[in-house]
Amino acid sequence: MLTAAQNQRLTRVGPGTPMGELMRRYWHPIAPSAELNADNPTKEVRILGEDLVLYRDAKGTLGLIEPSCAHRKANLSYGIPEENGIRCAYHGWIFNEAGQCVDQPSEPEGSKFKDKVRIKAYPVQEKAGIVFAYMGPSPAPMLPRWDLLEWDNVERWVVAMELPCNWLQCMDNSLDPVHFEWLHNYWGSWVLGMEKPPEEREAWKKQMQGEGARGRHEVKVGFDRFEYGVIKRRLMTGDTEENEWWRIGHPVLFPNILRVGQQRNHGFQMRTPMDDTHTYHIVLRVRVPEIGEVVEQTEVPYKYENVFKNDGRIRADWVLGQDQAAWIMQGPISDRTTEALGVTDVGIILYRKVLEEQMQIVEDGGEPMNVHREDKGVIVLPQEHSYYPGYEVTGGPFRDKPNLKPLIEAQLAPEIDANFA
Ligand code: FES
Ligand SMILES: [Fe+2]
Repeated sequence: MLTAAQNQRLTRVGPGTPMGELMRRYWHPIAPSAELNADNPTKEVRILGEDLVLYRDAKGTLGLIEPSCAHRKANLSYGIPEENGIRCAYHGWIFNEAGQCVDQPSEPEGSKFKDKVRIKAYPVQEKAGIVFAYMGPSPAPMLPRWDLLEWDNVERWVVAMELPCNWLQCMDNSLDPVHFEWLHNYWGSWVLGMEKPPEEREAWKKQMQGEGARGRHEVKVGFDRFEYGVIKRRLMTGDTEENEWWRIGHPVLFPNILRVGQQRNHGFQMRTPMDDTHTYHIVLRVRVPEIGEVVEQTEVPYKYENVFKNDGRIRADWVLGQDQAAWIMQGPISDRTTEALGVTDVGIILYRKVLEEQMQIVEDGGEPMNVHREDKGVIVLPQEHSYYPGYEVTGGPFRDKPNLKPLIEAQLAPEIDANFA
């Protein structure tokens, strides 16, 4: 349970807020690259409480600028892409990706007026089929060289959504492994079962959920802090601590990325705050091919998924939809002043502490964790039961990781009756 002031500090992301200032120290994904092209050259976006226009000019350069033209305030998302920027619809001024006005076609010949006119602009870059933006103080850090952004010869695709809830609801969920058993296995199967005729539901649920009504039970969860965030682990009924779910785990990258996947599928779930009550969820999925397979991919495809069904209820017919339902159904900003955290919530408590500690560092004039200034090569991240490029068995470079005790461990209820239903 938090005080109202603590909840406010953790959730509010506008300019000048402690969390907004912390968030501005990182590159954030804001759109799939393939969304901006000659047929669709501009997009209105909202990031960290600011309305902005993302555009691609005729040369292919991306810009992220304030929406209002400096002349008489026409919205530049209606502009025309030119070789050197975006030309305003109203009187034809052109602004480039630095926000500099570079053309004022109706001003007198030889006028230097344009040199004095500038609008706000933020740096952007494209990587792995995604546009990333940096809205913090100069100089901008590097975009971290995460494996999923850097690997060659893998297949990538992007799934994106706009969520009507605060970003921290997504992150709380990522530090809460126990929801897997309930939200996905039990509730998810129930939701999907309700779409079947009544007489088929029971058999179908059994098939979906395996032996137990809730899938396998988690007997303990563990969390470690590491250089880039927090690593989470779970131990399931019937497994030993040598199981990769426990020994390797998977990370939450500070402040707003979950790494998750299995087998040949790896993923980043990236939660970019649009404002206090809306979040872009940009999911990068990566398939690691079999050894010897050559992947030919010229463009990373993308898809925006509907968050809601036609009847206005949240879609929960897929795993990510169930997560999103859990976040959105808490309301625009979860009321953490009246929540009741139990033993299962130790990861959430840990992460909120890390967020608070890093906000303090920024307030004290320091640089927070996971801001990359030096190129240390590609950063390969742990993900249990997964194949890495060039490895024939799961675990990749983490395969022989010793089984260390986690920093924080929570023992959960022992096995609950598998027939509980
Ligand atoms: S308002 Fe944009 S050029 Fe006049
Ligand atoms: Fe989940």
